[in-house]
Amino acid sequence: MITQTKITGNELHAKLVSLHDPTYTPELCEQYATLIDEILKLKAQRSAIVLAHNYQRPEIFEVADFIGDSFELARKARDVEDAEIIVFCGVHFMAETAKVFNPERMVLLPDLRAGCSLADSVTAEALAERVQELREIYPDLQVVSYVNCTADVKALSDACCTSANAVKVVNRLEADNILFVPDQNLASYVQGQTSKNIISWDGNCYVHHQITPAEVERAKAGIPGLVVIAHPECRKDVIAMADAVLSTSAMIRYARESNADKFLIVTECGLSDRLLMEIPGKHFYKACKLCRYMKMITLAGVRDALTNLRYEITMSEEVRQGARRALDRMLDLGA
Ligand code: 13P
Ligand code: SF4
Repeated sequence: MITQTKITGNELHAKLVSLHDPTYTPELCEQYATLIDEILKLKAQRSAIVLAHNYQRPEIFEVADFIGDSFELARKARDVEDAEIIVFCGVHFMAETAKVFNPERMVLLPDLRAGCSLADSVTAEALAERVQELREIYPDLQVVSYVNCTADVKALSDACCTSANAVKVVNRLEADNILFVPDQNLASYVQGQTSKNIISWDGNCYVHHQITPAEVERAKAGIPGLVVIAHPECRKDVIAMADAVLSTSAMIRYARESNADKFLIVTECGLSDRLLMEIPGKHFYKACKLCRYMKMITLAGVRDALTNLRYEITMSEEVRQGARRALDRMLDLGA
């Protein structure tokens, strides 16, 4: 857990200066400091905790009780003990996962537009149809769903996985034939690490899929000694150029522990911002794009979510229990 204290506008400005982002003016930081103070008070009044994904805006980290990758956030959501409300600063499928583990708590997503292009690429109906077709060819077929999907897709899966544990989950399942949904790039990465037969869905993350080998090549040519760290949602030809392929939190650990001091971070820009703020002695270059969904979450949105208790995540008990089974399987196999 992060200890939260009131921050002044000047202190926030000093913290954000390492980002070299001219939009963080002293005036804006002053406004943010006021909002942060309001949110911290509302959290105490409402007995609320804030869980935030690594891609969130840096000012959101100031009100977060926990920041992490999808796997860490799922584990944290499962283990929440003393809060009545969970405010999820991330995207819809992540807030749904928090609800799956917390049926008795209110889970709020500050902006309902915070979706995900990957999650949108598979529906429960289409998945059920495809599974039926494939089971005629592969009777042992099991479905692994990357957590970037809706709860009703999770409910139809044998196990979920995240970027941190996809290979482990696939290798530990008993089946030899795996339908992997919805990310084609992560599926192809997993196929390279396993002897099992991976049948891929055709979804992708619009943020990672648009990063090209030419962009990585340009950065490498201009900066000798650059270490390339890529997210497994990147295309195969980009992954082939990476020194390490890691989940967002594993990227942070890698950069901290590595002897190298120059890194190209090939994922959403929020992660590079975290690295720039948290590891000041090293150099981080961004081959990144913004995720418009992650960036829907703002301090004003979090304040309004806590004030008006919106937008509440709900799902049927049947879907919740199905998704819980697949998520528990992941936590078990992927541990
Ligand atoms: P991580 O689980 O690595 O944090 O990734 C989540 C995500 O949405 C990547 O686009
Ligand atoms: Fe979805 Fe991609 Fe955004 Fe992650 S970065 S939330 S996968 S659209």
